[in-house]
Amino acid sequence: MGLRNSIHNYGSIAKWLHWATAFLFLCAYCSVYYRHWFTEKGTPENWTALQLHLSVGISIAILIILRIIWRLNNPQPQLEPASPAATFAAHAGHFALYAIMVIAPLTGYLGTSVNTEFFFLFEIPQFEHTSLFQNLIAQGLGLSFEEFEIPIDFIHKQILGKWLIWMLILGHAGAALYHHFVKKDRTLLKMTTGQDQPK
Ligand code: HEM
Ligand code: HEM
Repeated sequence: MGLRNSIHNYGSIAKWLHWATAFLFLCAYCSVYYRHWFTEKGTPENWTALQLHLSVGISIAILIILRIIWRLNNPQPQLEPASPAATFAAHAGHFALYAIMVIAPLTGYLGTSVNTEFFFLFEIPQFEHTSLFQNLIAQGLGLSFEEFEIPIDFIHKQILGKWLIWMLILGHAGAALYHHFVKKDRTLLKMTTGQDQPK
């Protein structure tokens, strides 16, 4: 299997970026809901779970930058033949997944009022303490951090975290399984064990 994509198949770099991101999304959900459901406020476990969520989210942000660069410099494997509506839905779905991979970490970072202890290795300052916040938001828009974080948190937690991300990922994974088990085409193979040329 080559490193680069071909028009028939994703290469190993694109596959690695795809599955690593999927795994990190799972970790982002597990850490934040472990915190909500199984820890008490103010305990070390509660803090560790939050910090894992922040670290995982920032890792997704790093991967999406690499992924966009890689995608722009590689051929995109052709979608399996389908109706124009299904092809449009696949393109729109992939675009929406890229959008949430950018917007979820961004809104998470912008709206968080603690530093990120990146996997307890080093600290990344919270947005409020950066010169960007001071220049753009505090002086530019005249907003305090408390005013700024309300809509940002609403997007991160209510719109994306509680609803949109779930729906998009479930729809996307469901479509992949439908292609594999019902249509029996190469959609899932392209992203897993598929080789460069179709059999
Ligand atoms: C793709 C990456 C991310 C995903 C999928 C994600 C998802 C979520 C979800 C599902 C919630 C819980 C929503 C609820 O209240 O039900 C949440 C809360 C939160 N997220 Fe993220 N997030 C991501 C990245 C980030 C990043 C990068 C940061 C900050 C650096 C961050 C900071 C937070 C904070 C502070 C909360 C509130 C925690 C709590 O109430 O316990 N998130 N996020
Ligand atoms: C169990 C979970 C998942 C399964 C089974 C799955 C399966 C697949 C498959 C089979 C493809 C290839 C589709 C094609 O080109 O015809 C694909 C592509 C893609 N997937 Fe997933 N996926 C999963 C999770 C995710 C997650 C969590 C994300 C991001 C939030 C994601 C984002 C994408 C994107 C953007 C593409 C388009 C190809 C690219 O540019 O990388 N997937 N996925």
